[in-house]
Amino acid sequence: MAFAAEVAHRLKTLGVDPDDLRPFFYSDAGTDNAQAGTPKLDLCLKDGALSLLERKTGQQLTVDFHSPAWRHRAAGHVRAEQLVKAVFGRRKSADRPLQVTDATAGLGRDAWLLALAGAQVTACERHPVVFALLSDGLQRAAESALAETASRLRLLQGDFNGLCPLREPADVIYLDPMFPPRQKSARVKKDMQLLHHLLGAGQDDADAMLHTALAQPVSKVVVKRPRLAEPLAGRRPTSQLTGKASRFDVYA
Ligand SMILES: C[S@@+](CC[C@H](N)C(=O)[O-])C[C@H]1O[C@@H](n2cnc3c(N)ncnc32)[C@H](O)[C@@H]1O
Repeated sequence: MAFAAEVAHRLKTLGVDPDDLRPFFYSDAGTDNAQAGTPKLDLCLKDGALSLLERKTGQQLTVDFHSPAWRHRAAGHVRAEQLVKAVFGRRKSADRPLQVTDATAGLGRDAWLLALAGAQVTACERHPVVFALLSDGLQRAAESALAETASRLRLLQGDFNGLCPLREPADVIYLDPMFPPRQKSARVKKDMQLLHHLLGAGQDDADAMLHTALAQPVSKVVVKRPRLAEPLAGRRPTSQLTGKASRFDVYA
């Protein structure tokens, strides 16, 4: 599938080769990898932002840290968020920012929240389309009033297992593997549904990632899990923080 010229141009400015993304998109000629029954996805530019578009429904997925939802969240008490509590622990003030490696960046929501809380975050994303969407959102943030937060978030493309040992030392490694598919799929948020179509739910090598993370010289590893799921790789965490839908397993 050929992308619109403006999309191809945008991808190149992000350092992404459009040819690397083509296999993930449906071709009317039927030559690409999309399987029967999967939605026809495309990339477009919406108000200058790179968007994943489902052609039939018009549903779009964009990384936008300027959205009203993010503005509301950023104005709240970020330090009271479960993720921030799990990652920062009892750390009060320190002479340097907490260094966090987010092994599974996805759409960057957790990484952005941690950067808002003051952490210096290095985030890894292996899927080229997800990487491009997040890279686009971060670049727009870096050119705006959000530049200071954006400067605390660095994005790497690649598989976390292959990127280790990371060049930057980290205090904490954070893992948020795809949750296994749910039976009540209506409960999955709309934007997550598009992401699932692209990635395939529950296809992660999550157990291997935990082993890799625990082998790094860090003070702790934090894993996000569905509230009632078994711990990754059957390894009991040192402590847990449980929320409404998810849980954070802490390996100190
Ligand atoms: C559930 S999503 C993460 C969502 C993210 N925490 C957020 O806040 O948007 C999981 C992401 O991890 C990525 N991923 C899975 N295994 C990975 C690996 N071994 N290395 C790097 N990225 C990986 C997937 O491509 C997917 O984008």
